[in-house]
Amino acid sequence: MTGLDALFDAARSVRETAYAPYSRFRVGAALCDEAGRIHATANVENAAYPVGTCAEAGAISALIASGARRIAGVAVVGGRRDDETGPWRLITPCGACRQRLAEFAGPDTPVRLGSPEGVLLDTTVGALLPHAFALEETAPGDAS
Ligand code: THU
Repeated sequence: MTGLDALFDAARSVRETAYAPYSRFRVGAALCDEAGRIHATANVENAAYPVGTCAEAGAISALIASGARRIAGVAVVGGRRDDETGPWRLITPCGACRQRLAEFAGPDTPVRLGSPEGVLLDTTVGALLPHAFALEETAPGDAS
């Protein structure tokens, strides 16, 4: 697995590309695949608000489009400050993205979360989504 530090840096830098004119809440997500390659994208909003996509969803699409099938590590950098000196609050992946991540990751897959100023929490996919739904006959990530 590519180091979490490198993954965090990739998430921090792709966050700058976010298209978030409506929420002004920019998020970058970086995923490491089974070959150690990094796939990183930011959130893309839409004037029809629910149509926007999370950073994590875009990064999963990029990973799958590259031919990879497993997520070995996750980093998400995001959020905003209320003013220039205010604190950065922890952000965690939304419920839908937790399910998306669980499809291609294992419960022990590391997840590093933070703001542009640094790491705020190291956790795992299993801690974010305990008792994740999976079809009995298909192990997560085995579907093609
Ligand atoms: N967002 C993400 O991209 N990832 C997360 O983990 C949480 C929320 C985006 C969606 C929307 O563009 C903005 O952040 C505010 O919800």
